[in-house]
Amino acid sequence: MAKNKSQFVCQSCGSTYPRWNGKCDGCGEWNTLVEENPSTGIGANPGRQMRKGTPVQLVSLAGESEQAPRIASGIAELDRVTGGGFVKGSALLVGGDPGIGKSTLLMQASAALAKQGHKVVYVSGEEAVAQIRMRALRLDAIEANVGLAAETSVENILATLEGDEPPALLILDSIQTLWTELADSAPGTVTQVRTAAQAMIRYAKKHGTCVVLVGHVTKEGQIAGPRVVEHMVDAVLYFEGEGAHNYRILRTVKNRFGPTDEIGVFEMSGKGLKEVTNPSELFLGERNEASPGAAVFAGMEGTRPVLVEIQALVVQSTLGTPRRAVVGWDNSRLSMVLAVLEAHCGVKLGGYDVYLNVAGGYRIQEPAADIAVAAALVSSLCGVALPADAVFFGEVSLSGTTRPVAHGTQRMKEAGKLGFAQAFATIDDKEKSASEGLSVTRIKELTQLAANIAARKENA
Ligand code: TYD
Ligand code: MG
Repeated sequence: MAKNKSQFVCQSCGSTYPRWNGKCDGCGEWNTLVEENPSTGIGANPGRQMRKGTPVQLVSLAGESEQAPRIASGIAELDRVTGGGFVKGSALLVGGDPGIGKSTLLMQASAALAKQGHKVVYVSGEEAVAQIRMRALRLDAIEANVGLAAETSVENILATLEGDEPPALLILDSIQTLWTELADSAPGTVTQVRTAAQAMIRYAKKHGTCVVLVGHVTKEGQIAGPRVVEHMVDAVLYFEGEGAHNYRILRTVKNRFGPTDEIGVFEMSGKGLKEVTNPSELFLGERNEASPGAAVFAGMEGTRPVLVEIQALVVQSTLGTPRRAVVGWDNSRLSMVLAVLEAHCGVKLGGYDVYLNVAGGYRIQEPAADIAVAAALVSSLCGVALPADAVFFGEVSLSGTTRPVAHGTQRMKEAGKLGFAQAFATIDDKEKSASEGLSVTRIKELTQLAANIAARKENA
């Protein structure tokens, strides 16, 4: 019999090495290699004879297809992100930092489903039954139809579910605590996480249950990140938020049954997560309209417009290399906007430190924020406040010209609804005519915007 030789597996990306290294060549992370035994789990015994399989029936692609059977939770912000509800027989990964509110959200979803008469099983490997009950009590989510267990063994969980009517929703909190006897390595390692996830996904497909796997993401990547199961599941949702702020954003990263650009916004309160139906109001809540350097960006998240304030601070630098610090936006995108301002608009920022912050801890992912960022930067440099009733959106290209962005009408509609009266934007003629009562200044080149703001200073 061949000797079992252990291997070293990167806990961040799953690359394997025969020897320990300080750095993983696959993903460039340091200190992520952990010794694992490959004699079990996926990819074990590659030399073994393959079993003769049984043929499967091929069906035509052109056959009848039915809608994915869904169970809506009734929590609108959650249903929007999942694409209309939990899909039967699917596996869902909910990732996020520890303490962000994953267990809270899923307990609320469990209670909502149970209230509709669906069978729900909630298995926690992190908390004792009494703790879960206390949380449910606090959330006002005590439902008899939710079966609880504090268990970490995959074999025991499957045995518990066996024979009984399969639940509509099965929550496994968290995937890092699950372990199976099929794999030899410690709980939380890549092999364990993968093997356990695979067993549970198989259960989901076989019994038509929606299995939700909870996964902690650690910044250090020391514990096997849920990233290694991302490709195995049907949908991946990330729950994020800033420590200092009470609201949380649920974002779709992958969804085989729905859109991937939707967000759900929640606010963490003393009685659990509350839905935020109009996020713009929340993000603009503490706005200081008279201060220079603040611009309101009319953004889009999937099908939903979201207005946020972008704050810039430009100060004379005392350093040889000026600082550029960004919170909530892409660093390289800021460098690009700075370069375009410098090269095409005569805005000299070389000797200044630049700080950029998206208010409220929100994170912008669209390039449409370019113009709003440029406006905030020029406004801070000139020391002149932007009009309080204006929104900005549009993309800037390296040549200093601008490009129209999608959903202009919807962005303006939302701005109009929230009391804004003008827009500085890159839109086409069709959208300009549908400007929803806003007076639109069309920005064709970034210089126009810079000159407009500089002129305000002279008039002031
Ligand atoms: P939790 O759901 O346990 O986070 P996760 O499962 O992602 O690790 O949420 C924990 C935090 O939420 C904790 O700091 C307390 C807070 N919280 C509230 O503010 N209100 C509540 O009603 C609940 C249940 C938790
Ligand atoms: Mg938890």
